[in-house]
Amino acid sequence: MKFSRNLSRESIIRFLEGGGPDSELFKAAREVLLESAGSSVFLRGIIELSNDCRKNCFYCGLRRDNKTFSRYTIPFNEVINAFDSGYAKGLRSFLLQSGELLGALHIDHVEKILHWVSRNLEGVRMVLSMGELPMESLERLREAGAHRYLLRIETSSRELYERFHPDDGLHEYDDRLRSLQMIRASGWQTGTGVLIGLPGQTAENLADDLLFMKELDIDMCGMGPYLEHEQTPLWNRRSELRHWEERELLTLRMISLLRILLPTANIAATTALQTLDPEGLEKGLMAGANVVMPNLTPMKYRKDYNLYQGKVHVEDTLDEVLKILENRCSAIGRDVELGNPGDPLHFSNRIKEQVGDWTE
Ligand code: 5AD
Ligand code: SF4
Repeated sequence: MKFSRNLSRESIIRFLEGGGPDSELFKAAREVLLESAGSSVFLRGIIELSNDCRKNCFYCGLRRDNKTFSRYTIPFNEVINAFDSGYAKGLRSFLLQSGELLGALHIDHVEKILHWVSRNLEGVRMVLSMGELPMESLERLREAGAHRYLLRIETSSRELYERFHPDDGLHEYDDRLRSLQMIRASGWQTGTGVLIGLPGQTAENLADDLLFMKELDIDMCGMGPYLEHEQTPLWNRRSELRHWEERELLTLRMISLLRILLPTANIAATTALQTLDPEGLEKGLMAGANVVMPNLTPMKYRKDYNLYQGKVHVEDTLDEVLKILENRCSAIGRDVELGNPGDPLHFSNRIKEQVGDWTE
């Protein structure tokens, strides 16, 4: 059977519903990846800088109203020590992630870390994922040396967005969309993503998520399965969830379809996917992902960064983690690219196009 890469909304829905042979879909996505971005796997060392958050999303364990764990912010010295050791092992891209915090102290803290990285670690790309920040904060952080921003739209359906967030003026679909568009328009390498397998979410919703990402022409994507958490309102609806194997298959199909729609984007095999299945890493990469995010958060904080239940907390040292990653990737014919910040080809191409446009 010849696989057509022209994906209409109807054919995307059909694949998501399991109507097309998955093996053909995954193979086509792998071919697209090899032809366009190559077989390399890029690493981002992630630091979960703070688990504090002003928001209250119904699906997330870090939501403001969950008082069952302690909130932390990792001090400057511990963050830079972690980056330093990651850098020494060849990591050239780091992601700072936290809940959404708008306070001056938080922004100052991030800015100070970024300044340190700019001065001390040559050739590093810094990625931020800290929610909807005002334009002034984003500008400051970009000037301090950050290049990439990840803001998941979570779901591109306004109706679903409203169903899974409180109606309190703080969780507006339009605000999130505007924030993402503003990030994209102001020159960041831009990433987004969605939750897959939310109760009541249909194949049509997910197809629209993919077309949304294509339309926005994003550079990076991190999307993973929704995983339940006992201390959240959505826990009550767990009987409506698809079985974990189905959520995993949906995630893999989403990765492949997005790879075909956006051949040169960076797409992550997410921690949530790896939490669902010990072989999630290999399966994600085989479906067309090309980014993995080893966790650099100091061990003592990790148990308190629980977006969902069952998050894997590997006790291995960074050396061991990288060795294991290299072995697992090479077993499926993929090379981990150390010493390379792994800019999404998609971003360089679109910048080239823009420069071309200006000079014409
Ligand atoms: N399951 C999976 N992912 C989740 N996130 C938040 N809660 C969950 C959950 N229960 C994701 C959101 C958010 C990111 C930081 O974590 O997509 O953007
Ligand atoms: Fe906060 Fe993000 Fe969790 Fe929502 S998903 S509660 S914004 S950390």
